Amino acid sequence: MPLPTQVKIVEVGPRDGLQNEKLVVPTKTKIALINRLADAGVRVIEATSFVSPKWVPQMGDNTAVMQGITKHAAAVYPVLTPNLQGFDSAVEAGATEVAIFGAASESFSKKNINCSIAESLKRFEPVVSAASALEIKVRGYVSCVVGCPYEGAIAPEQAAAVAKTLYDMGCYEVSLGDTIGVGNPASIQRLIDACARVVPINKLAGHYHDTYGMAIANIYASLQMGMAVFDASVAGLGGCPYAKGASGNVATEDVVYLLDGLGITSGIDLAKLAAIGDWISSAINRPNGAKAGRALCARTE
Ligand code: HMG
Ligand code: MG
Repeated sequence: MPLPTQVKIVEVGPRDGLQNEKLVVPTKTKIALINRLADAGVRVIEATSFVSPKWVPQMGDNTAVMQGITKHAAAVYPVLTPNLQGFDSAVEAGATEVAIFGAASESFSKKNINCSIAESLKRFEPVVSAASALEIKVRGYVSCVVGCPYEGAIAPEQAAAVAKTLYDMGCYEVSLGDTIGVGNPASIQRLIDACARVVPINKLAGHYHDTYGMAIANIYASLQMGMAVFDASVAGLGGCPYAKGASGNVATEDVVYLLDGLGITSGIDLAKLAAIGDWISSAINRPNGAKAGRALCARTE
């Protein structure tokens, strides 16, 4: 199969990245990050989450972030909403796209959102109905699609069943989360094969954490199967508060470097992105997790 000619990047750094920082990042830094990403050509930026601040205090400034950003006319700023309460707050804060998040593993579902997989799917139904009434698009996530920190390996069919339920419910796209980054090109291709039997491949996205350094290889393996939407996090920010040891998402700079090299359009300016990765890493006092970002910044110093 030929590789896609165009890929959509969903930048998740401001949410998936910053939700995992030990110190709460100042709201104005989050706003500057989101605005700079839009200026670099990123067109989908997951801005924050409307979850319980008791569970994830790092996202407690969700409304201030949504209301403080300068919305780029061509960009969308989805936010996570685990339930109707989060959805209502997100809408009030001006969100025009939301994401619901389930899991392929019972134990992870319980730790992350305090309910079983079946309960979570029931809880998402009114969110999708409310969104549909307001013409708000809903994205779906499935976590632990390859492995779970509590249960070990997860069967591809288990992930595919949750992906299908979310798609049938009305999610316009379902993102497959390798939450703890244990996948490799073989297990990721088995996963996509199972999911693409029940959800069209052009409605699937890859969300690969880079814990074992396999994320770029997994993206290439996914491109080979026709997947054309990938989540990524500038400077490789992040992890997951309910998945011990999980490191950040694949760095957006590394993904764009790969795509540029393959002649695949992403619309993102790599030089600007590398500068943003460098800036946010020093702003929050952590090493820059983007290899391509570090290399490009070293060249321009
Ligand atoms: P719960 O405690 O079962 O909720 O939490 P509840 O309905 O029993 O309510 C308890 C309290 O929470 C009440 O407040 C509610 O008002 C409040 P109280 O009366 O005690 O003062 N509450 C809320 N507050 C603000 N916003 C809300 C909300 N809902 C209830 N939306 C809940 C259930 C889902 C809320 C909780 O477990 C939670 O917030 N979990 C979020 C965890 C999270 O954000 N995890 C990280 C994101 S997922 C991820 O990173 C994976 C992903 O990247 C993909 C991948 O890598 O695999 C997406
Ligand atoms: Mg994630």
